[in-house]
Amino acid sequence: MCGIVGILAERPVADLLVDGLRRLEYRGYDSAGVATLVDGVITTRRAVGKLQNLADRLQQEPLPGTVGIGHTRWATHGRPSEDNAHPHFSDRVAVVHNGIIENHRALRAELEAKQHRFKSETDTETIAHLITDYLQQGMTPQAATATALKRLEGAFAIGIIFAGHPNLLIGARRGSPLALGYGDQEMYLGSDALALAPLTNCISYLEEGDWIELTPGKAVVHDANDQVVERKIHQTNLSGAMIGKGQYRHFMLKEIFEQPAVIGDTLASLVTADNKMALPDLPFDWATVPRLTIVACGTAYYAGMVAKYWFEQLAHLPVEVDIASEFRYREAPLPQGGVTLAVSQSGETADTLAAISYAKKQGQKILAVVNVPQSSIARQADAVVPTLAGPEIGVASTKAYTTQLTVLLCLAVAAGVARGKLDAKRAAAILQAVREVPAQLNAVLRDEHKIQELAHHLAEARDVLYLARGALYPLALEGALKLKEISYIHAEGYPAGELKHGPIALIDEFMPVVVLAPHDALFEKTASNVQEVVARGGKVVLFSDAEGQAKIGTKPFWSMALPASDPVVAPLLYAVPVQLLAYYTALAKGTDVDQPRNLAKSVTVE
Ligand code: AGP
Repeated sequence: MCGIVGILAERPVADLLVDGLRRLEYRGYDSAGVATLVDGVITTRRAVGKLQNLADRLQQEPLPGTVGIGHTRWATHGRPSEDNAHPHFSDRVAVVHNGIIENHRALRAELEAKQHRFKSETDTETIAHLITDYLQQGMTPQAATATALKRLEGAFAIGIIFAGHPNLLIGARRGSPLALGYGDQEMYLGSDALALAPLTNCISYLEEGDWIELTPGKAVVHDANDQVVERKIHQTNLSGAMIGKGQYRHFMLKEIFEQPAVIGDTLASLVTADNKMALPDLPFDWATVPRLTIVACGTAYYAGMVAKYWFEQLAHLPVEVDIASEFRYREAPLPQGGVTLAVSQSGETADTLAAISYAKKQGQKILAVVNVPQSSIARQADAVVPTLAGPEIGVASTKAYTTQLTVLLCLAVAAGVARGKLDAKRAAAILQAVREVPAQLNAVLRDEHKIQELAHHLAEARDVLYLARGALYPLALEGALKLKEISYIHAEGYPAGELKHGPIALIDEFMPVVVLAPHDALFEKTASNVQEVVARGGKVVLFSDAEGQAKIGTKPFWSMALPASDPVVAPLLYAVPVQLLAYYTALAKGTDVDQPRNLAKSVTVE
């Protein structure tokens, strides 16, 4: 989704804006631009494609000015082009915007009838002309903005500068996040704290409906009713090092390798060294919860699917998992006293936010598992259990997924103990098994070269099938998502037991079949599926353990033995090989691993 940066400083801001936008590149974009005031006049530089094109443009045509706004655009209304790139502007106002203005057509018609001339196809340009219209009626920039905001329908985070006002920067949010950064006399706006990390770690998060006027060294926050309010200032722990690639070629590879550490950090925040639960207080008693509803999107949804197995097996707690974009519209009846659990890396996914709103209206307690504790989803929840994955920059989610699983398994254990379904001994054994996962993952990561060799074969495939059973079935879906979103190879995940109900018709020597099958209670069933595939000339890629490799009963095309582990943690352990397989396949195909085409890191619009 789009990224926004705004800076009010005492030094030229154009290059600072571009630096901020670089930290938002991971969100996905197809054009970028900046605007500053040059002798009080709005002046822009915009470019299609990668941010480097904008940086090159600024090199050729430098842009002075000590107040400015910048934007990376992920096209919603209007194709990627320089004219459609932000900032959008009139002669008096320049605007950058993340979100969708749903009533932009009606507003545009009204403004065109008043002789406002539009230069783009975008909904955003409407904001610039609407504020201009109120300025022409004699309003101050603040009043014009506050009046215009009330006319907008839809979601927005916006940054605004005004011709002739070099000491004013205004921001506003409704439905899309916006952070405020405090410098020494300088003031900043950003889509998230990451964008501002090189400038400040003193951050406030605007609430729904807030708008803010920034002047040198001062911020005045207004709520949706234009009342002046205070917003808490947080000290973030983000640093340049945390958001660099280090010695890795891509953020995704760095984040894959960070998993042993961040799983350990996340576990340590929830469990004592002697394997006693130390979860945050929850506003409900697991023993009386009639049903748990899990809502999420994409990879987070697959983490939720794994959690269903855990909660049902360990706590005998009925669980319904649904894709948030479906759940928000299907009017599911939810039980009195029920809990809805939202899983989200960004904490800003629009569909998951909407699903929470529906659940709240149905009287559910909301529990959020997010990687950004100050995010919109966190703020909507009754309780938050954060993943401690650190900033995840790669569009393909990896360490967020395994830290989500870590939190979810701990929650399932806590629920099991609270509901009297899990004895203390088994609970401690499970937590110990999680504690051993980081070391086991390091062993898997040491074999990455084997997966890199395999990837060259996968890179030639047009279609790939992923099969697994039980709590690994969601990982088959996740593995397929990883592969398709970064290598652009079509891939599908299936429960292995479904093979004979259709997918076996696909089997031939051209379609690799990736099978995730530790030697667990379901292994024999999956081994039969492997034999059925091999018998039809299919190329099986088997991830198992040594015992499974020895007992698979046929010769796969390729296989790798992972460390033997407690079956309950297999979804954590087997996640890394499928991540590495997707990564190295994408590398072999030469795609943009960290910023795959058409994708955004956080989908903050429907
Ligand atoms: C996964 O690799 C994708 N980036 C995408 O499916 C992502 O998991 C989904 O958009 C949910 O994002 P969230 O966890 O920030 O809510």
